[in-house]
Amino acid sequence: MVPTPCVVIERNTVRLQDKVAIVTGGGSGIGQASALLFAREGARVAVVDRDLAAAEATVVQIKEHGGEALAFGSDVGMPGTADADAAAVRAQWGRIDVLVCAAGFSCGGTVTTTSPEDWDAVFRTNVGGTWLWARAVIPQMQQQAGGSIVTFTSQLALAGGRNNSAYVAAKGAIMSLTRTMGLDYAADGIRVNAIAPGAIDTPMLARGFLRQADPTAARETSLKRHALGRFGRAEDIAASVLHLASDASAFTTGTTMVVDGGWLAG
Ligand SMILES: NC(=O)c1ccc[n+]([C@@H]2O[C@H](COP(=O)([O-])OP(=O)(O)OC[C@H]3O[C@@H](n4cnc5c(N)ncnc54)[C@H](O)[C@@H]3O)[C@@H](O)[C@H]2O)c1
Repeated sequence: MVPTPCVVIERNTVRLQDKVAIVTGGGSGIGQASALLFAREGARVAVVDRDLAAAEATVVQIKEHGGEALAFGSDVGMPGTADADAAAVRAQWGRIDVLVCAAGFSCGGTVTTTSPEDWDAVFRTNVGGTWLWARAVIPQMQQQAGGSIVTFTSQLALAGGRNNSAYVAAKGAIMSLTRTMGLDYAADGIRVNAIAPGAIDTPMLARGFLRQADPTAARETSLKRHALGRFGRAEDIAASVLHLASDASAFTTGTTMVVDGGWLAG
């Protein structure tokens, strides 16, 4: 029998060789998966998380595989911390090519059941953390005449979502902020894009279901809405973050990439 000819698939070259990337929320879920993937793709990675031990655990994993990484235990919503951390990254590695703003959280609640304190906290982390980090890295990216910023919105900001008013509003604000930054910094060669994930199997998703009256039923209902028949994995989203971070998306800016397993189509 004649053997089937061997198809030679060229191995991808690493996509972030010699790049310096900062990933907020890099201690868990999507941020962690993105930081690990970036390191495998040749980047030096600064991992920022308000949970320093979690950030350090990501850094340990990167170093175990021969990568270079730094951990920062910072709250992205606190003015001054992004500037200080970005300065430390520049001092260590001399440049900043990629920023991923994955730090985020939700407290649940309708407009009438959300306290002013919770509303502020959700906006401070999600919107404020994205804004403060973008303004901390953009001057360096302007000096380098290029960079890529990836922000995190949600499919809920495109479709609406019940009992999650502050979060849905904050994610809508991030989508608009992303568009306007894409316009403002295009001439500097800086691209800014958002990712709108569907339900991704991370600690955040589990916490969201636990807030519902019947967590098991809430999980089942959400699962059924995904045409692909499963929740996303953090790695599914990291692959799209890598695409937006790398030159593979050189003609993409000011937009939102939906990665939701068919949730919005249903
Ligand atoms: N998981 C989903 O289903 C889903 C869906 C749509 C959008 N998103 C968005 O994706 C991003 C990542 O979510 P995830 O599911 O990986 O969540 P996660 O809870 O697993 O991880 C979030 C990380 O952010 C950190 N963090 C939270 N607030 C912070 C702050 N103020 N300063 C610094 N670090 C902070 C947490 O410590 C945690 O390590 C978030 O912006 C989230 O809103 C997630």
